[in-house]
Formats: sequence, C-alpha cells, structure tokens
Amino acid sequence: MSGEVPAAYDPLLRRIHWATAVLFIAAMLIGCYCGFQPPGTSPRRELLEVHKSLGVTLFALAILRILVRSATSAPPEPRSFGRIVRWAARLNHWALYLVLLAMPVTGYLFSSAGGYSLKYFGLFSWPRLFAGDQAIARIGEATHDTLAYLVYVVVTLHISATLWHALVKKDETLARMWPATKAEP
Ligand code: HEM
Ligand code: HEM
Repeated sequence: MSGEVPAAYDPLLRRIHWATAVLFIAAMLIGCYCGFQPPGTSPRRELLEVHKSLGVTLFALAILRILVRSATSAPPEPRSFGRIVRWAARLNHWALYLVLLAMPVTGYLFSSAGGYSLKYFGLFSWPRLFAGDQAIARIGEATHDTLAYLVYVVVTLHISATLWHALVKKDETLARMWPATKAEP
C-alpha cells in the first residue's frame, strides 16, 4: 500500500464483513424465533443447534477480523460526514464489534455451564468450561437475552444508515465496504 490513503477497507476485511453479515443476520433471526418457542420443543431444539454453530463460527470470524483490522489501514471517513454522523457511525461500529464478541461468549457460557448441547454442526462437541456452575449459566443467559435487544437496535440502525447513504445521499459509504472496489484511490 506504500503509504497511500486507501479508498476502501482491506479486501480480506470486506470479505469477512459480508460473510459475517449473512451469518449474523441468520443467527439473529433464528435466535429471535427460538426465543418465542417453548424449551424442549421441535424445531426449537434443532434450530438452536444451528444457531449455536453459527454463533461459534461468527466468533472465529470476529477474531480474524479484528486481527486484519488492526494490521491494515481503514479508509478515511467520507468527506460529507459531519461531526455527529462521524461519531454516530463510530459508536455503531464499536457496538457491532461488542456484540460480535459478547454474544458468542455469553451464549457459550450459558450452554456450557447450564449443561445444554454444544455440538458444532453435528460434527463434534466443544469442551465444557464451568460445567454445572448455575450462577455462570444464569449470568450468561441473562446477558445473552439482554444484549439481544442491543443487537436488534444496532443492526437495524447499521442497515438503515447504509441504505440512506447508498440510496438517498449517494455517497461513497457503501463503496468502502463493497468487495469489487479497488483498494487504491
Ligand atoms: C453472534 C452470535 C450470536 C447472536 C447474534 C445470537 C443472538 C441471539 C438472539 C437474538 C437470541 C434470542 C434472545 C431471546 O429471545 O431471548 C438468542 C437466543 C439464544 N442463543 Fe444466541 N446468539 C449468538 C451466539 C450464540 C452461541 C454461540 C450460543 C451457544 C453456544 C447461543 C445460544 C443461545 C440460546 C440457547 C438461545 C435461546 C435462549 C432462550 O430462549 O432463553 N447463542 N441468541
Ligand atoms: C445487509 C447488512 C449490512 C450492510 C448493508 C452493511 C454495510 C456496511 C457498510 C457500507 C460499512 C462501511 C461503513 C463505513 O465505513 O462508514 C460497514 C461497516 C461495518 N459493518 Fe456492516 N453491513 C451489514 C451488516 C453488518 C453486520 C450484521 C455486522 C455485525 C454484526 C456488521 C458490522 C460492521 C462493522 C463492525 C463495520 C465497521 C468496519 C470497521 O471499521 O472495521 N455489518 N457495513
């Protein structure tokens, strides 16, 4: 990159972003649906297996993404962004990184300590930390369920803001994350 200011995020980071977007929205919708179904019933049980596997995959992607993000330079914020929009976008992105890490961790703690299934796409089971610790299971569940509201809010704001910038403002916001954009200006 030889000191040039990039026009878009690192290509690998962009690929991870879109894989995350698809898997995260799937995990969120499945979790939300399961939250309304009585425990132990079908298809809640089967769907939760998929939900947990997607969640663990998202955790691995989040770690990889944070490494790539720290090793590469982000493009400068769009020139049209005022102070408030700039801070709103930063706050939104920090909240998204927070839930990307906190949802899998709390979900894992809750299932692991509570003695619930921890299979990865039916292939193998993850090791169980804090097995039988009901306090950890309760805290994990309560945090997972409470953070779910934050998830709905920040993801809705994130997608709405993108649509606003792409369709109404017609600025470069989406191009910065679009896979086909050239990294150099
Ligand atoms: C990025 C990853 C994840 C996201 C976005 C996510 C999101 C959600 C959401 C929105 C709900 C519905 C909450 C409710 O209605 O109470 C939920 C429920 C649930 N999640 Fe996750 N989750 C993630 C990862 C995980 C992981 C890794 C596990 C376990 C290993 C897990 C286990 C569960 C369980 C068991 C429920 C049902 C909770 C209940 O009915 O009280 N989640 N999740
Ligand atoms: C259809 C769904 C989505 C669209 C259209 C979308 C679009 C975008 C766009 C255009 C950007 C660049 C914004 C900028 O640089 O100012 C961005 C950044 C970002 N997106 Fe999304 N996104 C979506 C889903 C998600 C989801 C589900 C997550 C995570 C839960 C997520 C996490 C992030 C993060 C953390 C950034 C900041 C990147 C960084 O600075 O490292 N996005 N998104």
